[in-house]
Amino acid sequence: MQPDTPLQRAFNRQPNAVAPIWLMRQAGRYLPEYREIRAQAASFLDFCYTPRLAVEATLQPIRRFGFDAAILFSDILVVPDALGQKVSFETGEGPRLEPIDTSARLSALRGEIDLGRLAPVFTAIEQVRTRLPENVALLGFCGAPWTVASYMVAGKGTPDLAPARLLAYRDPDLFEALIDRLVEASIAYLSQQIDAGADAVQIFDSWAGVLSQREFRRWCAEPLGRIIARVKARRPGVPVILFAKGVGSHLVELAQTSGADVIGLDTSVDLTFAADSVQRLLPVQGNLDPLALLAGGAALDTAVDDIIETLGGGPLIFNLGHGILPETPVAHVERLVDRVRRRG
Ligand code: CP3
Repeated sequence: MQPDTPLQRAFNRQPNAVAPIWLMRQAGRYLPEYREIRAQAASFLDFCYTPRLAVEATLQPIRRFGFDAAILFSDILVVPDALGQKVSFETGEGPRLEPIDTSARLSALRGEIDLGRLAPVFTAIEQVRTRLPENVALLGFCGAPWTVASYMVAGKGTPDLAPARLLAYRDPDLFEALIDRLVEASIAYLSQQIDAGADAVQIFDSWAGVLSQREFRRWCAEPLGRIIARVKARRPGVPVILFAKGVGSHLVELAQTSGADVIGLDTSVDLTFAADSVQRLLPVQGNLDPLALLAGGAALDTAVDDIIETLGGGPLIFNLGHGILPETPVAHVERLVDRVRRRG
């Protein structure tokens, strides 16, 4: 990555005339060209493990919108798959896994992540890097232990994550063993993504916001800190973006103690709080409401302007507060990019 790109400047805590922009889940179903290639794979996991398709899906939003960063096309649930858990994605229903709710089931998993199973992911990263313009960063990613564990325990997405939260209360030793396994797996996986050519990595803790303070510290903040410290020790100088959704004022603690280089802001974060308490410590990324992008028009323009007016004076990576919604019109994404770049 060139040192003077807007994204690199943001990582280095230098303000930009125009904020760099990329969008969480920028590759996906809202793009007609994605839907076309998605039909070529029998299953979503096959799609992720076919480098030709994963590379194409990664590059599609860059070609269309000229974003400042590409994010590897994959999913956070390839990690349970590479730990030996059965994972599938049912169309219209989301992920399905064989639930890990007893120590016997945890013991049946691999002790260490099978990086060989993830070889197609590393091949895709290598190929994307050679095909991306030099000034576009390539982001690798993984899910945070808590968020990934929530799917591993329940076997599917659940509205309040009750199965994982209950297991953590009822059998903290078992839950800790699962989290520890995910910490080690994430360190190995992110390190290898960096070796394959990722310029920076993002950790998605999409469901961090449902935990009480004590549980948040134990199952989110502490394991995230361990992952980031070890990745940084192994691969110095590679920026880490931490997106912990719904954690409100805990963002200050994460900015102070997690070791991340950039703090993601979800849609609910108060912008003045973000500027005064988080961006004062670290560069921030976010927090446009995916529904404002879906709605478009004046609602979108106002939401974009609010972010740039409050956070544009400091290091900012423009992004959504959560992933783009599949119903989002492509024209609204064009309008967004245009407005961010013109407001600069
Ligand atoms: O950002 C990108 O463009 C890169 C690709 C990416 C996907 N998933 C592709 C995907 C990334 C970064 C993810 C992360 C992810 N996956 C998260 C964390 C971010 C977030 O949105 O909270 C989570 C919780 C998952 C788990 C997951 N994967 C769910 C719950 C689902 C089903 C719901 C849905 O959005 O469809 C998936 C499937 C999935 N992952 C799809 C895509 C494009 C849709 C599957 C398809 O195309 O058939």
